[in-house]
Amino acid sequence: MSASLTSTKHRILQHGPLLPSLEAQLAHDFDLHRLTDEADPQAYLHTHGGEFIGLVASAAIGVDAALVDALPALRVISSFGVGFDKLDASRTVPRGIAVGHTPDVLNDCVADLAFALMLDVARGVSAAERFVRRSDWLTGRAPLGTRVSGKRLGIVGLGRIGRAIAKRAVGFDMEVAYSGRSQVDGVPYAFEPSLTALAEWADFLVVAVAGGVATRHLVSRDVLTALGPKGFLVNVARGTVIDEAALVEALVQRRIAGAGLDVFENEPQVPQALMALDNVVLLPHIASGTHETRQAMADLVLTNLHSFFDKGRLQCAVPWPL
Ligand code: DGY
Repeated sequence: MSASLTSTKHRILQHGPLLPSLEAQLAHDFDLHRLTDEADPQAYLHTHGGEFIGLVASAAIGVDAALVDALPALRVISSFGVGFDKLDASRTVPRGIAVGHTPDVLNDCVADLAFALMLDVARGVSAAERFVRRSDWLTGRAPLGTRVSGKRLGIVGLGRIGRAIAKRAVGFDMEVAYSGRSQVDGVPYAFEPSLTALAEWADFLVVAVAGGVATRHLVSRDVLTALGPKGFLVNVARGTVIDEAALVEALVQRRIAGAGLDVFENEPQVPQALMALDNVVLLPHIASGTHETRQAMADLVLTNLHSFFDKGRLQCAVPWPL
């Protein structure tokens, strides 16, 4: 029986802000409490933590060990977002807590934004727009950009989002190769096991791999050196995948041609040195940020919870690495 039809609704804790429409539906379907409404969340959890069997959270804020420990009756977490690098598996897995997330529904919008960043940084779209607003066009010409069509695209991680990026690249007549933990069956793109070799080959290197300890600083100083002064880097994954200090240095010293970045190591902090550079496009982690996709993610957060309570299993469970 659905939670909404039972006389006693399941007690759910909400951690962090969510879409208003999602909050409203959660409050309708469940006995929802927002931790953000508490002046002293720790004291509240100390007294009431044992009441909650469900937790709604987000990939952006995550769920740390202390929060899981403060909820001794917790059976399910439903997280808004595909990434699970901020969800603490060391606490949820041993306790058998089901953890759901929202993959697939955001693939297209994230891939679209990867292309927006690639086109912007190579063609200098944002920089040229600033040029017009400064009235510099009245006295000069905007600098030439770099062609994207027909170039070599290296994708770091050919998962669901990586494949959506590759599909778009076909329309731009680009040659596509990828690196990752293993070769992907049934795709027409070349597999390059060495990320450094992929970077050396590529005109554009796009990062689409999951975040977390396994991929931390995968794009190292050596990879950036291999990309070289004509190569562009785009990141729509997680800031932690790139050695950000090495990236800032490479951009400032023009040892790579440019970068389009939607994510950073310490969001919302963006390295100050990047602010003045015209060879960088900086975005505030908006890859999945469209009305359509965010609504689809919200729907999946609800579906995961209802599926868990009604059928005993999540629609989309987090695939913790083995
Ligand atoms: C995701 O879904 O993981 C987005 O990057 C938001 O954090």
